[in-house]
Amino acid sequence: MSTVDDVKQRIDIVDLISQHVTLKRAGRNYVAVCPFHAEKTPSFHVDPARQSWHCFGACSTGGDIFAFIMKKDGIEFRDALHLLAEQAGVALETRRDTQEDARRARLFEINEAAAAYFHAMLLADDGPYVAKAQAARDYVSERHLATSSIEKFHIGYAPNTWDALTSHLEGRGITAAEAVAAGLAVEGDRGAYDRFRHRLMFPIRDDRGRVAGFGGRVLPGEALGSGENQPKYVNTSQSVIFDKGAILYALDLAKDAIRAEGKAVIVEGYMDVIAAHEHGYSNVVASMGTALTERQVTLLKRHATTIVLALDADNAGSEATIRSAYEIVNNSLRRRPVPNARGIVRQVDTIDVDLRVLSMPEGRDPDDVVRSQPDAWPQIVDQAKPVLDHLFDVAAARHDLTDPRQRSVAVAELSPFIALTADRVLQSHYLQRLSRMAKVDEATLRLELRQPVRARQLQDEVPEDLRREQPATRQHDPREEFCLALLLQYPDLRAEAGGLDSGIFSQSENRALFESWIGGADDGESLGPDLRPHYEHLLTVQLPAYDDTTAVRALRATVFGIEQHRMREAKRTRASALLDVAAQGSAAIAERARAAIDGRVLDVTEDDEPDPATVFVNDMEAGLELHKRELDQHRPRTAR
Ligand code: UTP
Ligand code: MN
Repeated sequence: MSTVDDVKQRIDIVDLISQHVTLKRAGRNYVAVCPFHAEKTPSFHVDPARQSWHCFGACSTGGDIFAFIMKKDGIEFRDALHLLAEQAGVALETRRDTQEDARRARLFEINEAAAAYFHAMLLADDGPYVAKAQAARDYVSERHLATSSIEKFHIGYAPNTWDALTSHLEGRGITAAEAVAAGLAVEGDRGAYDRFRHRLMFPIRDDRGRVAGFGGRVLPGEALGSGENQPKYVNTSQSVIFDKGAILYALDLAKDAIRAEGKAVIVEGYMDVIAAHEHGYSNVVASMGTALTERQVTLLKRHATTIVLALDADNAGSEATIRSAYEIVNNSLRRRPVPNARGIVRQVDTIDVDLRVLSMPEGRDPDDVVRSQPDAWPQIVDQAKPVLDHLFDVAAARHDLTDPRQRSVAVAELSPFIALTADRVLQSHYLQRLSRMAKVDEATLRLELRQPVRARQLQDEVPEDLRREQPATRQHDPREEFCLALLLQYPDLRAEAGGLDSGIFSQSENRALFESWIGGADDGESLGPDLRPHYEHLLTVQLPAYDDTTAVRALRATVFGIEQHRMREAKRTRASALLDVAAQGSAAIAERARAAIDGRVLDVTEDDEPDPATVFVNDMEAGLELHKRELDQHRPRTAR
């Protein structure tokens, strides 16, 4: 749970506000004389069910617990959060200090300098390393890498020396210690030396295009200091910015295409990605040879609803593949209402991603498939099997199904996936298949499915803290979150969003996030640790695939929905005040109502406290406004 949610759950708005204001019960709400402006008639309302407050008087504003403290103390969201967190005894995520941010920025900068250097070394036609670089250039053309790819992927050559990079960086004010921290150099007895020697260099960028690390491929010819069995690829050592499990190679270049297609293809290697992009298949990223991690899946799910795992034949049935599948499925559970055979709707965990597995022909990888039959690639990708079909095949290959014990293992492996299949017809199909395979009748297998197992529980190696959080429902406004998710995931909406008033967000964290975003902050780093978890949550909200036009339309409709909802809420809350007014039968009301109908303006000074009549008139106006908007929304375009 995020700190914001945690604090909201622990502090009741009525408790909080009554520490500062004398609240009086009125129906299901509380009322008070507004603490923020001078008035005699109470126009300050607190709604315990919604955990919100509103002043219908001169302030004409409201919000949640944070908004109350922000207004009362004149402080910002972040400070209100800290104050209330302390009051609630919620530990705040440690504020990552600016020093730490600066260190990370410096590492990216060093990597960028190294990438530029390696790239220049590959292309150089003079200098001390030209002769050795020829081996790299020959290799590149032997692999048919296009010149445009060399540029696009910023491919380079690490010279065959102990210090070429380190001294180059030193010349640019980067110390050897810094090169070591970036994972580019290794600390030895006689000082630091270059980690990468005589290798073809692939900069590995994060989803925002920053160089987080490198992969270096062996080249023909012997590298200095390397033994017989040097690994094919060497990576930058793990650092504060380089974690192989948190990055997908080429996601920065692929994400637009992935979003446009709604589909991502994950291959294993750098060369596979480059070949695919070269032939116009830009929705391809690489897991860099390891099992997919939860973080990689989360990154992808921001953009894709269909994920195709393209695996080399010898890997397709491996432990790592099954782990990857679990990883994806585990991270894609979503509670959804699903009707059973009798039409009774229950909340069921289902998978919200369409995962497919593509097994490459024996002995071939996507690199040579794409290069040898470029036009066939889309059909090949289309032939990817639904993950369950693949896992059935794997189970059949891995287990000796004549042995009842092994059949039992196969059932245990497959049934969680079947249980998570929301589509009844499909589920039935797989159940029959499992029944045939396991030689167990369907009714017994169905019992197996009834166990409320989440696939996650089967896999002991998944650490506790990766369990999905159950967000608090009470104070979440799905409309607001959808709206923000839309803005964050479709940054081109920024221009359109410029006209929005942050006041449409009633939840303080949403409002604060919107304000920072519209002010130019566009990533978790710049938002700071308080808003980052909420930001990250919003990035994982699954949205339909919009194009420019439909995204704008979706935004407008969402904003309209929020405003409409807000006005309805306001009207409802004001109803109690109106009841009082009606009971008084005030002549003033009649007069104002008449004035409103005639379109006359009564002279009321700005700071006047609202009398019941004003409340009534405001309410009518809000109602009129609401109806007008509804009419506008439904009027055909040409009539406008
Ligand atoms: P592959 O062996 O399939 O390499 O490993 P590749 O990308 O197809 O390269 P070529 O075609 O042989 O030149 C797949 C990926 O696994 C990682 C790399 O990211 C590689 O691209 N890997 C592989 C390593 O990190 N280290 C290794 O020693 C081998
Ligand atoms: Mn390959």
